[in-house]
Amino acid sequence: MKSHQIKFNLNGEAVSLSVEPSDVLLDVLRGRLGIKSPKAGCDRGDCGTCTVLMNGRTVRSCLALAVEADGAEIVTLEGANTRKWTQKLQKKFHEKNAFQCGFCAPGVILSATELLEKNPKATQRDIKEAIAGNLCRCTGYEPIVGAIAETARER
Ligand code: FES
Ligand code: FES
Repeated sequence: MKSHQIKFNLNGEAVSLSVEPSDVLLDVLRGRLGIKSPKAGCDRGDCGTCTVLMNGRTVRSCLALAVEADGAEIVTLEGANTRKWTQKLQKKFHEKNAFQCGFCAPGVILSATELLEKNPKATQRDIKEAIAGNLCRCTGYEPIVGAIAETARER
């Protein structure tokens, strides 16, 4: 297979690297670029632990090919701290102890960031829909939904 040279913006920095057509974005981020917040949970699009923002929208990086990132802006939790909602969400989750092991946390925070950037007046229903693809095996969802709702209320 012929490799491809791709360029994209990763957390505010220009990145250029050669990838194979079958390389998965999650593996490239973690294995070659040292980005550890997106994680392999299910590796088939079900759990949301591999969530990243691509051009401001959440994507499952376990289902995206690295070549799809060519020309895109990719933001992971490592680089999302400059976003207003990400900062507020992280503070609120910390205050509320809304996570336990934290394995789902990067995906949840990025999904909530996408939601609140689009709709700062999000309702509980909007929040539940927005994080429906982010599975948490620890806390149950009440503290998570509550922390996001409280962040939205304090906007
Ligand atoms: S690892 Fe990508 S959705 Fe589960
Ligand atoms: S806090 Fe452990 S998976 Fe969500």
